[in-house]
Amino acid sequence: MTRLPRTIAIDGPAASGKSVLAERLAARLGYFYFDTGLMYRAVTNEALTRNVSIQDENAVTQIAETIEINVLPATENAGDAASRMASVPSRVPDDASRQFTVTVDGRDVSYQVRRPEVDRNVSAVSAYFGVRRAMTAQQRRIAERGCIIMTGRDIGTVVLPDAECKIFLTASVEVRARRRMADRLARGQSVTLEQMRDEILKRDAIDSSRSVAPLRPAADAIHLDNSALTIDETVTRALDILNQCAQEWA
Ligand code: CDP
Ligand code: CDP
Repeated sequence: MTRLPRTIAIDGPAASGKSVLAERLAARLGYFYFDTGLMYRAVTNEALTRNVSIQDENAVTQIAETIEINVLPATENAGDAASRMASVPSRVPDDASRQFTVTVDGRDVSYQVRRPEVDRNVSAVSAYFGVRRAMTAQQRRIAERGCIIMTGRDIGTVVLPDAECKIFLTASVEVRARRRMADRLARGQSVTLEQMRDEILKRDAIDSSRSVAPLRPAADAIHLDNSALTIDETVTRALDILNQCAQEWA
């Protein structure tokens, strides 16, 4: 009898649909889903909040090495509501899809880590070697428990090179820009398709060209392009891939 892969790595560029796919698969399989991008976002948000220059590699690295980041399945409680009201001045998303509560040194930063300023600066922060070293070590510890789906850019190549199933999820820039624009508009943020395309292209370029753990498919990753697929169709295709991996591990 075949068994499900215990560790599933999903990598790919921004807005390729990693989060929504991982969430659906995790619910279906009873696995734990961990989004590593939130850790890089938490470091970036902390640097911005402390008015540390993003160009100051030593200072940003020191933040990454000293803050305690926690990423937990989202629960809407009084603490969250207070944090939203206290620290997010603009319209707050009615974010039923928020999957995780992110805390830094015990402070709830779940909404701040998704703000556009973090989007614009996170790729520079995550290119720093010391930042990656600190995050990768924590991510490996988290994955040790097994039955995990981890999403990011370097999960299949660096964080979990022995993952039993690796999916590299892609979609065209045009489609990804449209998706991210729809996400932003739903949060009450105004943005044009042109701006979204530029931002995504910039982030793709930095993520793919950095010297440490660049965004690229692992040699043994299975590619899935979902430009023309709905979420449900993507899930069906991913389940086929998991079965394929299961056969290989049997
Ligand atoms: O959700 P989205 O795809 O826009 O981004 P994310 O997964 O939250 O990741 C934000 C940024 O963190 C990426 O653009 C990368 O620069 C960085 N990241 C990384 O370098 N390595 C990872 N494993 C995950 C994210
Ligand atoms: O995590 P990542 O940045 O890779 O992407 P995501 O946040 O899962 O997906 C970005 C947006 O595209 C979300 O609003 C998804 O619901 C949407 N999406 C879609 O419309 N069709 C797909 N096949 C995949 C994602």
